[in-house]
Amino acid sequence: MDSSIFDNIIERRGTGSLKYDCAASRGFPDGILPLWVADMDFRVADPIAAALRAAAGHGIFGYTVPDDAYYGALRSWWCERFGYHFEPRSVVITPGVVFSLAQAVRAFTEPGDGVLIQRPVYYPFSEVIECNRRKIVNSPLALGDDGRYGIDFEDFERKLAEERPKLFIMSSPHNPVGRVWERWELERMGDLCIAYGCLVVSDEVHADFTYGENRHTVFATVKDAFRENSIVCTSPSKTFNLAGLQVSNIVIEDNALRRRYKSEIEMSGYSQPNTMGVAACRAAYEEGGPWLDGLLEYLAGNLDLLGSYFPVVGAARGADSVCGNQQAEAGSHVPQARAGSGVRLVPVEGTYLPWLDFRGTDIAHSRVDDLMVNEAGVWLDSGTMFGPEGEGFQRINIACPRSILRKAAESISAAVENHISE
Ligand SMILES: Cc1ncc(COP(=O)(O)O)c(C=O)c1O
Repeated sequence: MDSSIFDNIIERRGTGSLKYDCAASRGFPDGILPLWVADMDFRVADPIAAALRAAAGHGIFGYTVPDDAYYGALRSWWCERFGYHFEPRSVVITPGVVFSLAQAVRAFTEPGDGVLIQRPVYYPFSEVIECNRRKIVNSPLALGDDGRYGIDFEDFERKLAEERPKLFIMSSPHNPVGRVWERWELERMGDLCIAYGCLVVSDEVHADFTYGENRHTVFATVKDAFRENSIVCTSPSKTFNLAGLQVSNIVIEDNALRRRYKSEIEMSGYSQPNTMGVAACRAAYEEGGPWLDGLLEYLAGNLDLLGSYFPVVGAARGADSVCGNQQAEAGSHVPQARAGSGVRLVPVEGTYLPWLDFRGTDIAHSRVDDLMVNEAGVWLDSGTMFGPEGEGFQRINIACPRSILRKAAESISAAVENHISE
């Protein structure tokens, strides 16, 4: 796979793209460079495009039932890449992970009940809890001096013991802090959840995006007991950029939990999945591996580029290999860039959504928001969208052609430096 295909710039304006076509309606200037929502600017893998053309060519789009080949492709992917075995009967197909989280909240909690999350975290977690009139129980992640986030286990246990949440929605790998949870961390969280009777919903939509030595561990593979106390949310939507086709595969191995979950979905009237989504998902898992491997190599290069502008937290200035939490190694292919803005990169172990730390610039958070939009001309996700713990941070999407990312990094650095020297 020649990863230079990811250098191609594809015009997306005028395609009804949430990322590109909604700036004005969301209060952003026209022409702003969008690096916010988790949506990649790359053309899909050829086998996916071919499968969609074939489905379109058939010309009949009636109700669709996934066949054995669909389940075969899904299971092989998770088994070969993550050692995760499950039976087809354990899979509940849904039109998206966020939809699935909301269904879990409704199926397994009552209004007023607590649901545990770890902020700063993907904001729809809070939304599905609050929209369903449940209570957020937050156990904030702890930011170490080395810039790496971790779990404050004392607080985690205290929240379980005192607030008695019935559900824990976990982001793994974690969006936006970029952690790929280690086995021992998952084990400790999972054991505590079992001890306090809390069901784990493990959102593993970013499982395929890991760098360097970091390897994603599926929560249910850590221990047999976790299989019975978890809902594992998977989807090809991030890995292959298929969010618009609306297919996700939710794995629930415990029969009683799955029955309860399915009945909640029935209550919302959803049944058969999207025909095109099924075709794309099967092709992605059957034949998309080489494309993904090329993509990961490309994203690792983009991370290096970003790290040359915004050195990784805790690394010496000039550090140039940020992937996989590695620190400076001389002789990178990335030329020395403008790295003096004071903005730092939180080490990226997984996801394509780095978390930029602006706290060292001493610019107030709201002013940074304003600088990004009105001076740098970039649309990032402001850190506070992920909870108050995100103050001083911005999330940037690096799944775009490298020339675009370079332009964005230049503009961000220049906007910050100009502001500081004013
Ligand atoms: C952690 C996480 N979960 C879920 C989603 C969205 O999944 P879906 O489009 O299937 O609802 C995203 C998208 O950014 C995400 O980052």
